[in-house]
Amino acid sequence: MGFAVHCSWLAALLCLHFFGGQVCCDCTEENMEIEGGHYTLTKQLQKGSLLIYHCPEGYYPYPVVTRLCQHNGSWRMAPKRFTPQRCRVVECPDPTVMEYGEVSPPQEKYFVNNETTYECYSGYTMRGSARRVCLPNGKWSGSTPICGRETGHNCADPGIPPGASRAGNIFGVDETVKYSCNSNLFLVGSSERVCLENGQWSNKEPACYYKYTYDTSLEVSQAFGSSIKESLTTLESLNDTQSGKMIRISKNGTLNIYIAVDISESIEEEDVEKAKKAIITLIKKISSFTVNPNYEIAFFSSGFHEVVNILDFFNEKPVERNTIIDMVENFKVDEKNTGTDLNLVFEKSLEQMAVIKQRVGTEQFKEHRHVIILFTDGAYNMGGSPEPTVARIKNMVYMNQTGEEEAKSREAYLDIYVFATGKDIFDEDLQPLVTGLGEKHYFRMKDITELQETFDQIIDEEEVKGLCGLHKEYEIVGSPQKVARNKYPWWASIIIQTDGRSKSCIGSLVNPYFVLTAAHCFTFGNVPEDVRVEIDDGQGRVKKVKYFILHPKYNIKGKAKEGVPEFYDYDVALIQLEEYVQISSSVRPICIPCTQETSDALQLVGVSTCKQQEELLLKKELERVSFLTKSGSSVDEKDAHAKLGGLRDNCIKYALEAPNITATDPKVAVTDNFLCTGGLTPFRDHVACKGDSGGAVFMNYEHRTIQVALVSWGTKDLCRSGGGKVESDKTSRDFHINLFRVVDFLKGILGNDEQEEYSTLEFLKD
Ligand SMILES: *[C@@H]1O[C@H](CO)[C@@H](O)[C@H](O)[C@H]1NC(C)=O
Ligand SMILES: *[C@@H]1O[C@H](CO)[C@@H](O)[C@H](O)[C@H]1NC(C)=O
Ligand SMILES: *[C@@H]1O[C@H](CO)[C@@H](O)[C@H](O)[C@H]1NC(C)=O
Ligand SMILES: *[C@@H]1O[C@H](CO)[C@@H](O)[C@H](O)[C@H]1NC(C)=O
Ligand SMILES: *[C@@H]1O[C@H](CO)[C@@H](O)[C@H](O)[C@H]1NC(C)=O
Ligand SMILES: *[C@@H]1O[C@H](CO)[C@@H](O)[C@H](O)[C@H]1NC(C)=O
Repeated sequence: MGFAVHCSWLAALLCLHFFGGQVCCDCTEENMEIEGGHYTLTKQLQKGSLLIYHCPEGYYPYPVVTRLCQHNGSWRMAPKRFTPQRCRVVECPDPTVMEYGEVSPPQEKYFVNNETTYECYSGYTMRGSARRVCLPNGKWSGSTPICGRETGHNCADPGIPPGASRAGNIFGVDETVKYSCNSNLFLVGSSERVCLENGQWSNKEPACYYKYTYDTSLEVSQAFGSSIKESLTTLESLNDTQSGKMIRISKNGTLNIYIAVDISESIEEEDVEKAKKAIITLIKKISSFTVNPNYEIAFFSSGFHEVVNILDFFNEKPVERNTIIDMVENFKVDEKNTGTDLNLVFEKSLEQMAVIKQRVGTEQFKEHRHVIILFTDGAYNMGGSPEPTVARIKNMVYMNQTGEEEAKSREAYLDIYVFATGKDIFDEDLQPLVTGLGEKHYFRMKDITELQETFDQIIDEEEVKGLCGLHKEYEIVGSPQKVARNKYPWWASIIIQTDGRSKSCIGSLVNPYFVLTAAHCFTFGNVPEDVRVEIDDGQGRVKKVKYFILHPKYNIKGKAKEGVPEFYDYDVALIQLEEYVQISSSVRPICIPCTQETSDALQLVGVSTCKQQEELLLKKELERVSFLTKSGSSVDEKDAHAKLGGLRDNCIKYALEAPNITATDPKVAVTDNFLCTGGLTPFRDHVACKGDSGGAVFMNYEHRTIQVALVSWGTKDLCRSGGGKVESDKTSRDFHINLFRVVDFLKGILGNDEQEEYSTLEFLKD
């Protein structure tokens, strides 16, 4: 075949231009241009190269999106003389399908940026959006407007999405409605919905897509996020009244995740790197939940390149998450295979499932949940359709349950997601492969570039309650207050009034009812009414204080006779709020030492100990830590390094330089209960200012924040006007109460299960 190249003199000229010495190539650029846009080539004009048309936002390439340079030197999808290639303006599906209402303006076609408004006939009330705009991705903004009226049926009118028609007008229990899409459109989602006893329709509303319609990364992260989260959340039954579903995975269930990425030539090479980054982001995101899934990760084309073998997770030695990430990072595409064998991917998953089942036994296997995540454009040209293999996978996971009820009960154990990311997506082949309980499992993305961002946004919703320290790292939009709330959702401002003077401190939310801060923020004689705690949870910024309690061993005058006029050992206090704060993505407790939740956040498997946590967090002689400082009504982050082990003595000796300390042994003032930061070596730390007192000294671990200490006192006041990000000098040092040394105090209150006022934290046995 190698000699059968098309070699016109024009091609030779063009190829000279492109490859220097090489004089022969395969396809030509004749008649390839596009009006209003441009094109790119994946492998210049060599055979196998894919020509991809690009148009500005709001336009799409027509009549074709891509052309392939074939073996004989001609383009597949040859240009047609009478339909020249051009960029066409994006159209949205017909909204006038709405019943019992008016759409204005009435138009034959609706284009990008066209606005529509909706009104119901009298006697009907509207649900959904009364105004919608046609967006550049070929979808209408907002949600489907529906005009309905009380009919006595069990379910409300489910409406008709734009571009669709519906069969079925009776909305009683068990009644079915069926949707189809009008010409040029295809249906994404489930074409049938059933009216359930709880008055809801099964499945999500389907949508009609054009070939150029795509899902935005926000849409994908919301839909995929809420779906995958259900697989990941290990919370005990959280009643989800809206969809009537319970969280499915029990704490001892096993989750197997199979990820496969198409690297055949139909997707550009740099996309492989992007796909790798996206997978890594996804894995990191998943591990910020308290689960340790088993992974099968592979790249595929005509062959199957296994990167991580799921069977390794069933050996004695657990596979470290970082090892998984390294394996993905180090993967190189060495051969450029032509062809895509999609079926092979499912064959391999099925094979692995069979081996797992054999290893763990049928009973155990019943408890395994499987999530298959596939990235492809679906242009398979080898191996045949994967549908029969998918049917076999279902059979295996559904345990041959053929009765409708039994099979339904098993459906929760298998989710197949498809992310269609190519330029020219074969929807008809891909859509039938997805499974899932009515959630959206099929995504059409314009560009693989968006995937990483998409996965990064997944932890967005408020559903993941109870996971301490979970936060967003890359939030960039919004006011400084909003950014800070998302990044430090546990932070609280504390103002204490004493004799007309107010003292400002920082606190950290450690449970919906409790804020942790420093004891020295309080003055003898303070009552709860003097204390003002501010956390903006959308229910009023200022929180009423029920009581506060200082560590019983805190005694500021305790060592006055030993040359330490102000002694800050056990400088901790807990404030109980009258009412609990509303937990959300921007208001959430921080993780504190020696709790089960913190072990989960640190991904310690099985029975863990307090010591293990401390060894993990404070293991090196120099540990980078952070704390906050107020900045207007927001906060800034300060960085410092805790000097531990052999470096500690040299750090705490500067305590003797603090004003009024006359003791000669620094350990009199700085007991073992303190962490020491500050100085210039090896890094110039930030120093704590007065208003930073009581704030968390924290470390981040994969999207989770763990508080290891709290800001107590320092040797010098380098802060002018009380605050800001001030850098240390040579001798300035700060001392922070190490929370591992005050666990008994925390446990006595936060772990006290002899009361019923608040829910307790689960502290480790030892
Ligand atoms: C090139 O090959 C394709 C199929 O492989 C065929 O359809 C097409 O007619 C061929 N074109 C030329 C110019 O030979
Ligand atoms: C709808 O959009 C098209 C294309 O941009 C434009 O020509 C037309 O004027 C718009 N119609 C309305 C009513 O805005
Ligand atoms: C969950 O719902 C069930 C049934 O409606 C109810 O009995 C139970 O108390 C609820 N549990 C919680 C934690 O709300
Ligand atoms: C965990 O597994 C055991 C035995 O396999 C079972 O008895 C127990 O109910 C399971 N726990 C949960 C929370 O599902
Ligand atoms: C399911 O069916 C297949 C073939 O029909 C059979 O080999 C297998 O043993 C069955 N599995 C169970 C759990 O019944
Ligand atoms: C040191 O002691 C003196 C005298 O008691 C007092 O006025 C001063 O405020 C103290 N300085 C500090 C920094 O505490």
